[in-house]
Amino acid sequence: MEVSHFLFPHDWRTVRVPEMPSVFIKTYGCQMNERDSEAVAAQLVAKGYAMTPDEQHADVILLNTCSVRDAAEQKALNKMETLIGQTRKRNSTAVLGFMGCMAQSRGQELIDQLPDVDLVLGTQKFHRAGEHLNSLLTGQRNKVVDTSEEAGSEATIREHLLNGASAGKAVTAFVSIMQGCNQFCTFCIVPYTRGRERSRSIKDIVGECHELANGGVKEITLLGQIVNSYGRREIGVKDGKSAFVQLIEAVHEVEGLERIRFTSPHPKGYGDDLVEAYACLPKLVGNAHLPVQSGSDRMLKLMHRGYTRARFLELVSKLRAVQPEMGIGTDIIVGFPGETEEDFEQTVSLCREVKFDNAFLFKYSQRRDTPAVAMPDQIPETIIQERHARLLEEVDAIRGRKRREYRGAQIEVLVEGPSHRNAARLEGRTRCNKIVVFEGGERLAGQVINVKITDATRSTLYGDPAIMNLN
Ligand code: 5AD
Ligand code: SF4
Repeated sequence: MEVSHFLFPHDWRTVRVPEMPSVFIKTYGCQMNERDSEAVAAQLVAKGYAMTPDEQHADVILLNTCSVRDAAEQKALNKMETLIGQTRKRNSTAVLGFMGCMAQSRGQELIDQLPDVDLVLGTQKFHRAGEHLNSLLTGQRNKVVDTSEEAGSEATIREHLLNGASAGKAVTAFVSIMQGCNQFCTFCIVPYTRGRERSRSIKDIVGECHELANGGVKEITLLGQIVNSYGRREIGVKDGKSAFVQLIEAVHEVEGLERIRFTSPHPKGYGDDLVEAYACLPKLVGNAHLPVQSGSDRMLKLMHRGYTRARFLELVSKLRAVQPEMGIGTDIIVGFPGETEEDFEQTVSLCREVKFDNAFLFKYSQRRDTPAVAMPDQIPETIIQERHARLLEEVDAIRGRKRREYRGAQIEVLVEGPSHRNAARLEGRTRCNKIVVFEGGERLAGQVINVKITDATRSTLYGDPAIMNLN
């Protein structure tokens, strides 16, 4: 940490005070983690810390971790080992910390394994980051492990860095509406790392959306582990509408917002009121991420998913009946214990039937404390890999065919800013969540424009703005 000198005004003594430390945060995992990191960064910036993208010189290094698969945990552990090697040589007082899901599930164990780690901050404690860093940096404490439950913590993921660390993000923002999960799918560690479901109030969320819209945000994504469980206990059903639909309606009223998305809903509790919302609320864009996990009823039951293949297909039909152009994405696990070739083929056939616009495929990974670990017929890694590769080819080909169908079409795009791959071009998203790259001046950021699609790859659409007034 840099040390600066200045004159103490009342007695002119020269004292040494630390400049505010610089902070590097690396995030693993889902959009919820991205959002948590942003809230921690905003909290620290408000306290005077400076965010830095430079891990080599940071005074505070935080890894926001994911536990959903073993590979994600190993990545963060390896990264921390490397950082310890690099950092301790140059700065013995730098603070190194884990936060998020792995911090929650492993706690003190992380410091036992890597004694150079100073801070372990659980998933209900993000808002305490500043306080703990202060006591570590000033030497009041040597190590901090804070992973206890805290009532009301769901309401603390609120602050944003609108024009902060990542320029161009200010057109879109994530808003965390709830924490935790009560579903206990038999493969999943999330209910253990994120705790039980807790929802924020509609008023609080709408207030945050107003602030974001006033700051120029045009699109909001409402985030939660199962968003359609939002407010089930706290708010309940009113006039036949679930609490989540009541929330979307309230956010829909926010002036300045042009688009609303949400992720992820669970197919189990996806009611007709939420299907109908797509017909009634024009700002709710036609996009649904519906994790199916498997196409086999036998697997769905063992996974404790709470729906059948037929029910899932019925839901997809209902959504497409309301919005034929709806983009539908999913998550699939390959190689869950007991998965036979026949079960796997059921998943392949479901993918062919639904033609997902996006599908994230995961190799089953044993997670501690989850019931699936103790199930018979664990699938050998070689078979998991072979099935994963087969399914990937299938869903990629479907995705590519669907993207190519857009050639020649005119499509509405919200311009987000410079393209991530080529900053000389612009990037935006269609209502159905497809990325479009095109030529144009940066002042178009934040605008909704029509783009004519000229080319398509498996992941990206390319086009020309319909109105060629580019600068
Ligand atoms: N192994 C593999 N994938 C998993 N997921 C959750 N738990 C596991 C696991 N143990 C996947 C699910 C979920 C996504 C976020 O991660 O598909 O929807
Ligand atoms: Fe995990 Fe299932 Fe909850 Fe999703 S619904 S977070 S997969 S337990």
